[in-house]
Amino acid sequence: MSSTLLQSLTFFDLHPDAGDLREEVLAGLQRTPKSLPPKLFYDQTGSELFERITEQPEYYPTRTEIGVLEACGPEIARLAGDDCVLIEYGSGASRKIRILFDALSGRCRYVAIDISKQHLIESTAQLAAEYPGIEAFAVCADYTRPFELPAEALTAAGRRIVFFPGSTIGNFTPPEAGEFLSNTARQIGPGGGLLIGVDLKKDAATLDAAYNDSEGVTAQFNRNLLAHINRTLGADFEATSFRHRAFYNEAAGRIEMHLVSLRDQLVTVAGEPIHFREAESVHTENSYKFSIEEFQQLARDSGFRPEKAWTDDGNLFSVHYMTVADSVSG
Ligand code: AVJ
Repeated sequence: MSSTLLQSLTFFDLHPDAGDLREEVLAGLQRTPKSLPPKLFYDQTGSELFERITEQPEYYPTRTEIGVLEACGPEIARLAGDDCVLIEYGSGASRKIRILFDALSGRCRYVAIDISKQHLIESTAQLAAEYPGIEAFAVCADYTRPFELPAEALTAAGRRIVFFPGSTIGNFTPPEAGEFLSNTARQIGPGGGLLIGVDLKKDAATLDAAYNDSEGVTAQFNRNLLAHINRTLGADFEATSFRHRAFYNEAAGRIEMHLVSLRDQLVTVAGEPIHFREAESVHTENSYKFSIEEFQQLARDSGFRPEKAWTDDGNLFSVHYMTVADSVSG
């Protein structure tokens, strides 16, 4: 592990392991039904397309969560207390962390964690420059797997609070989400807090529209995954020979995104031939939705005590604050 001091920013590189990406992609494509990991959406183009998704009229989660955070900011600041350490998992959401910095009057420590090193350093350095009162740390790590935070980043006196916005927790299956929450509880320890954004269950029409915007940005975002694989693993996908499909699977409580092959085709991926039947589907993402009670139960089962949940007037999106329960089993 190396650390470098960049003005008011300390950077730690935990070297997240990209080595088994090839294996992960091939395993997903050699399985029936086929699937690909959603983390591959976020190359440079994919991150830009996601930003554009958040601006589509049908995609309500981002602006709704921002509204909820703005409304409950002062209360969150009271719950956080003085000198807290804000630990953000996935530091893409800089608009959201600014709301918390403002509510805390810029008095806290900030630890940004992201797998994408360049993006992490740039966005954290920008924040550190804008909020000189904040002591900033950037840790390059894959937060979806258990990892140790550098002790140096955790020496502040106050409460450790993990901030995990955007309903990104919905990308995990419920058992994976439970395991992720247990790891988080262990990481922040007794007295720690979790501020997490969770998309709510609602009518299928609203959900379907949010993942099928009329401008087709979500479709582009979905198909860009193939271009990303072409570039990073060496493959010859023709993105236009797959169509975007997204729908709410009510029984499972999740949006599913798929890429559907428009014809019978053979694609070479990292040297391996992969056959697609006409109309065969590749599952690219799950986005689980929860009621407030369902999410609180999942959190209780994973070592947290739900303290407070906020929603918007339309009950579209929730923000939960929970603390680590007294006894966290290993
Ligand atoms: C960033 C995972 C929360 O599930 O809504 C948006 C990603 N996929 N449109 C979501 C996404 C398609 C988003 N998350």
